Amino acid sequence: MIKHESIETNSGLLIILTLIVISIGGLVEIVPLFYINDTVEDVAGVRPYTPLELRGRDIYQREGCYLCHSQMIRPFRDELLRYGHYSLAAESRYDHPFQWGSKRTGPDLARVGGKFSNEWHVAHLKNPRDVVPESIMPNYPWLLENDLDYADVQARMRALKRTGVPYSETQQEYDRNIAEFGLVVADRLDILNAEDSLVEQAMGQNYDGVLSRITEMDALVAYLQVLGTMVDFSQYDEGYFVEFR
Ligand code: HEC
Repeated sequence: MIKHESIETNSGLLIILTLIVISIGGLVEIVPLFYINDTVEDVAGVRPYTPLELRGRDIYQREGCYLCHSQMIRPFRDELLRYGHYSLAAESRYDHPFQWGSKRTGPDLARVGGKFSNEWHVAHLKNPRDVVPESIMPNYPWLLENDLDYADVQARMRALKRTGVPYSETQQEYDRNIAEFGLVVADRLDILNAEDSLVEQAMGQNYDGVLSRITEMDALVAYLQVLGTMVDFSQYDEGYFVEFR
């Protein structure tokens, strides 16, 4: 007690000791960032979002879905039973910003891809109570009315490229993506080809059930349907996770 009082009444000493404490805290937070590339292991299957999925992700953020939904399955038994394999760092390596979150008014969405049909998602987003009567999730009917604006999708991809997402613009980058992700995926990660690839995916899969236009619903459902599906977990963790399935 007495010693602490002498610190608090001596501003010079207080400043010096405060700086020491802050420096230690700073080092603990900053130093690991220099090793981030070693920390995030490569996991087969994880790829950047296609232009359509990327626009869907933008809409997810615009509508504030993250305010009620997390996207990180914690490594606990109850989470595992409910959602599946816990989230890997690599699964959000191309997410800028990540959507982990901690607020779960609704369920975690990290592995929602493939859990429901496209039709279910469209009906649910239009009016959640049509498919889940007790739901308190808001309606998002405008997603089906609004045409998807994708005029700036190339600029968005370029911005992400600067943060390290391997979208390609040069032949060399494109070739590297073919080697890493295969030809079909590499085509979709090519910035110069982005608008065509977006139209092709939206029209080919018809996520929203509307054939004549590309709506915001197309993009959002494409995004939801890819969440958590990139890694093939049947290859790993034989035994431990199989036991719970
Ligand atoms: C006010 C909180 C809230 C907001 C905002 C919200 N949701 Fe939900 N969401 C819920 C609740 C509660 C449920 C569980 C009941 C249900 O299925 O409707 C849910 C369920 C879901 C499900 C089904 C998940 C599952 O595994 O059963 C999906 C998919 C979903 N929401 C997507 C979205 C998307 C996309 C948005 C943004 C456009 C969004 N939600 C915004 C609360 C919310």
